[in-house]
Amino acid sequence: MTQNNDLNGTVALVTGASSGIGEATALALAELGSAVALVARRRDRLDGLAERIKEQGGAALVIEADVSHLKQAHDAVERTVSELGRLDTVVNNAGVMLLGPVEGAPIEEWQNMVNVNVSGLLYCAHAALPHLLRAAEDSPRGVADMVNISSVAGRVARLGSGVYNLTKHGVGAFSESLRQEVTQRHVRVALVEPGAVGTELVSHNRPEIQEMLGQRFGNIERLEASEIADAICYIVTRPRHVAINELLIRPTEQQG
Ligand SMILES: NC(=O)c1ccc[n+]([C@@H]2O[C@H](COP(=O)([O-])OP(=O)(O)OC[C@H]3O[C@@H](n4cnc5c(N)ncnc54)[C@H](OP(=O)(O)O)[C@@H]3O)[C@@H](O)[C@H]2O)c1
Repeated sequence: MTQNNDLNGTVALVTGASSGIGEATALALAELGSAVALVARRRDRLDGLAERIKEQGGAALVIEADVSHLKQAHDAVERTVSELGRLDTVVNNAGVMLLGPVEGAPIEEWQNMVNVNVSGLLYCAHAALPHLLRAAEDSPRGVADMVNISSVAGRVARLGSGVYNLTKHGVGAFSESLRQEVTQRHVRVALVEPGAVGTELVSHNRPEIQEMLGQRFGNIERLEASEIADAICYIVTRPRHVAINELLIRPTEQQG
């Protein structure tokens, strides 16, 4: 049995690869030798990332898809397997965070979060699971990984984050249940819970919410997306008998 200190010969799928944590993770997995399927809606961004990966000697497949659509999510997984040959690693990262009070909230913001953070993750997990189980059985590494990106908001509920909290707590509960279901077949399910990371995530909020968030976090030094990518790479390169179940990663200066 090989030690999993590199990912040569493996295939990964990263959702939300067009920016932030997903983009950094796709790059990092490619550097470790994994062929990477890049899934998101903004094709131009995915094309640019695929170019960078290929320039560095890696392999990348661009898949323009909205993971909140069942068929698009399913087809993204199937295209990965048919074009790249297998599926060893899934990073369920695509997500939106639209904060604010419950009272008077635009209901479409809630629908968007539930559709992407919950339904999108479930659709990808459902489609990927048979392939991950097969990879754990037949690959030289003898193990496969699903990494689900939650948040500190999946641990701690806060005023003004009700529906985001709901979606990320749900990701945590689902991940732990699935972990118990498949761990003896060597599919590792890991939960990563970042604190504040400098990405585009906040920029999709209404201006008054962005101001509120600016005040909440002040000038603390935020994490970089590559630092979450490092954690994900650590998880998926452990030896077969080591499963990192959960990682909570805050900026040092973040209190809550
Ligand atoms: N940044 C933070 O402080 C932080 C903290 C804790 C947890 N997180 C979590 O980390 C994950 C990544 O967020 P980020 O910070 O990297 O933010 P980001 O830069 O805004 O990235 C979000 C990614 O999700 C994709 N996405 C959104 N809706 C999608 C859909 N319907 N179908 C497919 N892809 C979709 C976006 O791509 P397209 O728009 O091109 O589709 C983008 O690539 C999220 O789950 C977020 O909740 C972030």
